[in-house]
Amino acid sequence: MKLFILLASLSLTLCSVSSSLQQYQAIFNFGDSLSDTGNYLLSSARPFPINGKLPYGETFFHNATGRCSDGRLIVDFFAEESGLPYLPPYLGLKKDQNVSHGVNFAVAGATALDPEFFYQMKIGSSLTTNYSLSTQVAWFKKLKPSLCSTKQDCDNYFQNALFLVGEIGGNDYNYPLFVGSSIDQIKASVPRVIGAITTATSALIEEGAVELVVPGNLPIGCSAVYLTSFQESSKASYNETNGCLKALNTFAEYHNSELKRALGFLKAKYPHARIMYADYFEAAMPMFVAPQRNGFSSGSLTACCGGGGPYNFNNSAWCGRVGHVACEDPSLYANWDGIHLTEAAYRFIANGLIHGNFTTPLELTSTTLIANGSNPDNFTTPFEQTSSMELQVGHLQYMG
Ligand SMILES: *[C@@H]1O[C@H](CO)[C@@H](O)[C@H](O)[C@H]1NC(C)=O
Ligand SMILES: *[C@@H]1O[C@H](CO)[C@@H](O)[C@H](O)[C@H]1NC(C)=O
Ligand SMILES: *[C@@H]1O[C@H](CO)[C@@H](O)[C@H](O)[C@H]1NC(C)=O
Ligand SMILES: *[C@@H]1O[C@H](CO)[C@@H](O)[C@H](O)[C@H]1NC(C)=O
Ligand SMILES: *[C@@H]1O[C@H](CO)[C@@H](O)[C@H](O)[C@H]1NC(C)=O
Ligand SMILES: *[C@@H]1O[C@H](CO)[C@@H](O)[C@H](O)[C@H]1NC(C)=O
Ligand SMILES: *[C@@H]1O[C@H](CO)[C@@H](O)[C@H](O)[C@H]1NC(C)=O
Ligand SMILES: *[C@@H]1O[C@H](CO)[C@@H](O)[C@H](O)[C@H]1NC(C)=O
Repeated sequence: MKLFILLASLSLTLCSVSSSLQQYQAIFNFGDSLSDTGNYLLSSARPFPINGKLPYGETFFHNATGRCSDGRLIVDFFAEESGLPYLPPYLGLKKDQNVSHGVNFAVAGATALDPEFFYQMKIGSSLTTNYSLSTQVAWFKKLKPSLCSTKQDCDNYFQNALFLVGEIGGNDYNYPLFVGSSIDQIKASVPRVIGAITTATSALIEEGAVELVVPGNLPIGCSAVYLTSFQESSKASYNETNGCLKALNTFAEYHNSELKRALGFLKAKYPHARIMYADYFEAAMPMFVAPQRNGFSSGSLTACCGGGGPYNFNNSAWCGRVGHVACEDPSLYANWDGIHLTEAAYRFIANGLIHGNFTTPLELTSTTLIANGSNPDNFTTPFEQTSSMELQVGHLQYMG
C-alpha cells in the first residue's frame, strides 16, 4: 500500500493532467440519494420505500442496500479507488464500531436547506426526510471524538481523510419543481442553497477537514423525470446536441457557477484547506452527447426501470412499484429509474472525476483574495416569500 501511494504521488507530480485526488485512509460523505448507501432505509421515514427492494441493487450487491441505483454509486467508486471498504451508513453504526475508514451521512431526499425553509414555502409535507445537510454535519461532530482525540492526533488523521460535501442541493430545487414551481422561482433560492453548502463546508473545515471535494449539480435537464413532466411542444426547448431540456441545464450550470464562486471565497478564508470542485455536470455530459460511443447503446435519456412513456418514466408506476418494467441490461443505460443513474453511469462519472480533469482544487487567485474581504452574507440572502411561491402540492410524488 505504501509503495502504491508513493508511486501514485510520484505520477501526480510527473503527469500534469493527472487527477488532483490522492489516496485516502478515510472518506466522510454528506449528501442525498446520489450517495446514500443506506441511511434513508434505516431512518424508516416512510413505509415500503422503493429503494428497499429489488430491482434496486440487482447489478452489484444482488440485493437492495438502500442505494438508489442498480449498483454502486460515485462514492463507492471513490472508496474502491482508495482501497477502502464501502462506507457504512451512519444510522446503521453499531456501538463501538470501528469507523476509522469513514462514514456515510448522506440521506436520500436530503436538502441543503433545513426543513423549515420548505415548510415556509408550504411544501414541507413533501419532504421525504428531515435529515438536511446541517443535521448530517451535526452527526459528524457527534462522531468525531471516536475518530481522534488530541489536536495533533486529529491533524494527522484528517490529513488523509477526504470529505465529500455533496452532491447536495439538487433536491432543494427538485421539491419545488415537482409541485409546479418555475425555474425563475427556484433561481431565487440559489444564494440560500449555496449559503447552506458553504456553511456546512466551513463547519467541517473548522472541525479539522483539510481535503474536501464539493460537487456541483448534474445536468438535470437530461433527467427522464423532467423530460417527461416538462414535455415541451417546441423543439427549441431541447438542446440539439444531447436532447436535454435547455432551460433546466442552464439552471444547473447557474447553480454550479455560483457554487464555484462561493468556494473561491471559502478558499480565501481557509487557505490551508484543499477545497476541490467536482464538475459532475461536465463529467456526465459526454454520456448524453455521445451515448453510443461511451457504451450506453440503449441511450442515455430513457430510464432502464420505469412504467412506460417516451422516457420510460411514469409517475403512477415508479421503478419498484406495480406496473414497472426493468430493462434486461442496465449497463447499457445511463438513467436508472427516471431520476437516479445506473451503476454504469456513476462509474463513468467517477472515472472522469478521479482520473480525468473534472475535480479541480480552488486556487488562491487575486479574485479569491479580494473575495476575502467581501461580504459572506451575499450567499445567505434572507428568505422572502412571494405570493407566487405558494405552491400546490401533488403534481409528482418524489422519492428523493
Ligand atoms: C437482502 O436484504 C434483505 C433485507 O434488506 C435481507 O433480509 C436478506 O437476507 C438479503 N439477502 C441477501 C442474499 O443478502
Ligand atoms: C480501527 O481500525 C484501524 C484500521 O483498520 C486500526 O488502525 C485501529 O487501530 C482500529 N481502532 C480500534 C480502536 O480498534
Ligand atoms: C419532519 O418533521 C416534521 C415536524 O417535526 C414532521 O411532521 C414530519 O413528519 C417529519 N418528516 C419526516 C419525513 O420525517
Ligand atoms: C447544448 O449542449 C452542449 C453540450 O453540453 C453545449 O455545449 C451547448 O452549449 C448546449 N447548447 C445550448 C444552446 O444550450
Ligand atoms: C482573510 O481575512 C482574514 C481576516 O478577515 C485574515 O486573517 C486572513 O489572513 C485573510 N486571508 C487571506 C488569504 O488574505
Ligand atoms: C402509467 O402507469 C399507469 C398505472 O400503471 C397506467 O395506467 C398508464 O397507462 C401508464 N402510462 C403510460 C404512458 O404508460
Ligand atoms: C480536460 O481535458 C480535456 C482533454 O482530455 C481538455 O480538452 C479540456 O480542456 C480539459 N479541461 C480543463 C478544465 O482542463
Ligand atoms: C457582496 O456584497 C457587497 C455588499 O454587501 C458588494 O459590494 C459585493 O460586490 C458583493 N459581492 C459579490 C461577489 O456579489
